Amino acid sequence: MTESRPLRTIKSFVRREGRITPSQESAYQTYWDQFGIPSDNPTLDWQTLFHRDNKFHRDSKRILEIGFGMGDALFTQAKQHPEQDFVGIEVYKPGIGSLFNQISREKISNIRVFHGDVTEFLNLTMSANSFDAIYIIHPDPWHKKRHHKRRLIQTTFIENLLSILKPLGYLVIKIDNDHYAEHAQITCDGIEQLKCLPTIPEHLRYPETKYGERAKRLNHQTHILSYQKQSETN
Ligand SMILES: C[S@@+](CC[C@H](N)C(=O)[O-])C[C@H]1O[C@@H](n2cnc3c(N)ncnc32)[C@H](O)[C@@H]1O
Repeated sequence: MTESRPLRTIKSFVRREGRITPSQESAYQTYWDQFGIPSDNPTLDWQTLFHRDNKFHRDSKRILEIGFGMGDALFTQAKQHPEQDFVGIEVYKPGIGSLFNQISREKISNIRVFHGDVTEFLNLTMSANSFDAIYIIHPDPWHKKRHHKRRLIQTTFIENLLSILKPLGYLVIKIDNDHYAEHAQITCDGIEQLKCLPTIPEHLRYPETKYGERAKRLNHQTHILSYQKQSETN
C-alpha cells in the first residue's frame, strides 16, 4: 500500500469573496446546521450525519464530489438516487448557498457539504475509507505553465485521496483541457493502487455540470478518466 505523504500547502483555488447574492447568503445561514459538515467534531460519523439509523439504510452507497461549483450536478444526482448519500466539497460560499437553495426547494435530505479545501477534509477522522465513488469534475485548469503546480491533480494529492476511497471504490475525473487531462492520466496511471478502466462504467455516469456545458459550447473535448482502487490483497 502507498503511504500517505504530507499534504501540500499550495492552493488549487483563489478565494473569491463578495459576490454572494442575498438569497445564497440567506440559504447558507439557514441551512448550514442541517446540511453542513462541521470540521471540529471528532465523534461524528456518517450514519449520524445522514440520519441513516435503520438497518436497511446503513449500507447506503456514499458518493463524493470535489469542487462542485454551483452544485447543479450534485443536486440532480442526489435527487435521482435517494437511496445513496452524497457529500460535496467546495470552497466557494456562493456555490454552497446556491446548492442549499436547490435542496430546500425540493426537500431532499441525502446531501451534506464540507465548506473548505478538500485537503482539510482528508484530515477528518471520519473521512477514512468512506466513499464508494469520488468525482472530480472540471478541476480549475490553471492554464499558465507557471501555475501548473496549483492544479489539484498531483501524485501526492491523489495518493492521499485514496485513503478516503473504499477498496474497489471508483475515482472519476472529467477535464476539458487536453494538457491537464494528459497530466491527470499520467499521474493516476503511475499510482499502483489505481487500475485504469477502459471506459466509464454505466453506473458511474454523472449529470453534466456548468463547466461541462461550457466546454460543449466552446467545442472542447471533455476527457473522462475512470479508475478503480485495488483492494489490498490484489
Ligand atoms: C472550474 S470549477 C468547476 C465547478 C464544477 N465542478 C463544474 O464542473 O461546473 C472548479 C471548482 O473547484 C473548486 N475548488 C478548487 N480547488 C478546491 C479545493 N482544494 N477544495 C475544494 N474545492 C476546490 C473551486 O472553488 C471551483 O468551484
